[in-house]
Amino acid sequence: MAVPLKERNRAEHKRYKEDVEREGKPFFPYAIWHDTLMSLLVVAMIIGLACVWYYTADGTEAGILGPWYTDEADPGTIEFVPRPDWFFYFLFYLLRIFKWPESVFLGTVGIPTILLVLLIALPFYDRRPERRLGRRPVALVAAILVVISMGVLTWKGATAKEALGAEIIAAGTIGEWAETQGFTGNDTAVEGATLFAQSGCMNCHVYTGEGNANLGAPELTDVGASDRGIDFFKSYVANPAQYGNNVMISYAYLGDENLTKLATFLDASKGGK
Ligand code: HEC
Repeated sequence: MAVPLKERNRAEHKRYKEDVEREGKPFFPYAIWHDTLMSLLVVAMIIGLACVWYYTADGTEAGILGPWYTDEADPGTIEFVPRPDWFFYFLFYLLRIFKWPESVFLGTVGIPTILLVLLIALPFYDRRPERRLGRRPVALVAAILVVISMGVLTWKGATAKEALGAEIIAAGTIGEWAETQGFTGNDTAVEGATLFAQSGCMNCHVYTGEGNANLGAPELTDVGASDRGIDFFKSYVANPAQYGNNVMISYAYLGDENLTKLATFLDASKGGK
């Protein structure tokens, strides 16, 4: 006959108390003290390494622990594509799965919070003292699934392509665009396409299946089909707010010549018709 869980736990606790009395030291304060000491040691080492890095590096020269600061941070950049450290790739990719505005909350807060709460609550809902893996099928399968899904998400996050201008241009995609849209030979439009890829437009807009659909931005593959003309696109991109678009920034800083190129490209984008 199996002993009821509650009684067994009580017996275990009693045995632990007796053990402690006979030959051991209680968890508090002894083990806690060890942990505290060890943590302090680790923090002290990190501070020490930071000091070595700081004082051996000289102005712009690398020290024995790596380079001095490189470029200064530019808060005005729009070309920077943020990438997390590798150990956050799984969260990063989770966010990409939930890219629709209504579900972003699930990917950023919802699922991670639910999993964390489950983890924190584990000692309260899993009270069986059984430790043999073979007798813990649910825990075993759950653990394997977590490891596999985190592994897959990390892998996907690490290899995820940013629809970055550099990648698009390097892949020769601009030439393909010109071909399918029929503006090959129109140098202004081709230069505009390059600007389009370089200026961060594709962080929000999809163009012939590439780029990201973000913040409700429409696909621009056939944006020129409406025949609104180059001047319209120039004024739109230079000042989107006047058309009620408060999501896009003003690209007036690109200068008149570049705006003409961009607008020519947009106007020439008629979806291959
Ligand atoms: C931060 C996101 C974002 C970026 C970056 C962005 N856009 Fe937009 N864009 C939008 C959104 C959102 C709309 C739709 C606004 C609306 O419907 O009122 C839009 C609309 C447009 C339209 C009008 C489409 C139409 O059919 O009326 C054009 C043209 C356009 N964007 C071009 C560009 C170009 C060119 C760039 C890069 C230089 C760019 N966008 C960068 C978010 C963005």
